Amino acid sequence: MKVVAFNGSARRDGNTATLLNCVLDPIRNEGIETELFQLAGEKIRGCTACYTCFKKRDQRCSVEDDVLNGCIEKMIGADGIILGSPVYFSNVTTEMKALIDRAGLVGIANGGMYRRKVGAAVTVARRAGSIHTFDSLNHFFFISQMIVPGSRYWNVGFGREKGEVEKDQEGIDIMKTLGENMAWLLKKLA
Ligand SMILES: Cc1cc2nc3c(=O)[nH]c(=O)nc-3n(C[C@H](O)[C@H](O)[C@H](O)COP(=O)(O)O)c2cc1C
Repeated sequence: MKVVAFNGSARRDGNTATLLNCVLDPIRNEGIETELFQLAGEKIRGCTACYTCFKKRDQRCSVEDDVLNGCIEKMIGADGIILGSPVYFSNVTTEMKALIDRAGLVGIANGGMYRRKVGAAVTVARRAGSIHTFDSLNHFFFISQMIVPGSRYWNVGFGREKGEVEKDQEGIDIMKTLGENMAWLLKKLA
């Protein structure tokens, strides 16, 4: 069993990465393999709306010169997918939106590639826009026919500078519970 987490932040190893690791820790403790893939510094463009994915149906995006197809392969190989994004202007980052649009469309074009995988969204903000961002991330899971576990609150944390989210104890606890619930659900579905 494997869970892959994508960090859509433009800042490597920042607050989103911290929260994603808080979700992944209890999953690892249950003996499930985990991977954190950070989009920061990677080339990833938006969807070109060429619809080649609907013509070829080969589980790939026709844009081959960036990390997207590698991300799709990681999603296909995982039982659980976590999408994490900081709040940028009350929504997901550009990099995360590119991942959602392209991986999502390829999944739909190929008849539901992520169907019945387990999905979870994680977001962090300095102050506002968390719920809108959380909703944006969840749209990927629900249109992909995925199964989404909950936590003790919505999966949001607060902090601005790198590492600041570690002071948000409630946010950390939410992520821990989310990881425990995700691991529980994955084992039930296995
Ligand atoms: C371009 C940009 C836009 C942002 N917009 C918001 C926002 O709308 N609301 C908010 O609370 N924080 C906003 N922030 C702050 C980040 O969400 C916050 O610093 C977060 O902790 C960054 O996560 P990271 O360390 O994983 O990159 C913004 C930051 C940047 C760089």
